[in-house]
Amino acid sequence: MKNTVIYPGSFDPPTNGHINIVERSLKIFDRVIVAVAEHSTKVPIFSPAERVEMMQTIFSTHKNVIIEPFSGLLMTYARQKGVQKILRGIRNVGDYEFESQMMLVNRALDPELDTIFMMTEGRFSHISSSIIREIVTLGGSITGMVHPVVEQKLKSKLTP
Ligand code: COA
Repeated sequence: MKNTVIYPGSFDPPTNGHINIVERSLKIFDRVIVAVAEHSTKVPIFSPAERVEMMQTIFSTHKNVIIEPFSGLLMTYARQKGVQKILRGIRNVGDYEFESQMMLVNRALDPELDTIFMMTEGRFSHISSSIIREIVTLGGSITGMVHPVVEQKLKSKLTP
């Protein structure tokens, strides 16, 4: 069976930090399933279909990167996929605190499920989806922070 990991997130929008995590994970795993959360506690600006489409465009040349929407509990989705490994990026101590709780909740729900953490590269550790949305809304440049396709979609969604 292929060595597969699930990389879940809201990806609203995907950033170069997310892309970097997927690319580096391909050196460790045979296959990455990018699971785009349809519902989360955040109110998204992009629909699930738009977020899936952006990721599909970014990874269109990668046959071993599968992009799918998911809803409900992550552990249920992982079970349906027959995958027991979750991948998450960590940028800083704040992420660590949140991620360690999420990892423990997932293991409480399914003891077979494990989470692998990858440190975000320093050049991406200051960016986040919400900061990028704010910069675009206020007319700043996000070049180098997101893929060009995401930059274009953000500008058409957030600027008049
Ligand atoms: N580089 C740059 N930024 C990064 C990053 C990286 N490598 N990794 C994360 N981020 C940022 C994102 O930009 C985003 O920023 P924001 O807070 O400004 O929006 C934030 O960190 C996290 O977003 P994302 O990576 O898209 O994931 P998420 O935390 O929104 O995803 C789910 C959370 C979907 C995985 C989680 O809510 C979930 O599993 N939901 C399903 C329900 C469930 O099972 N709940 C019980 C388990 S707790």
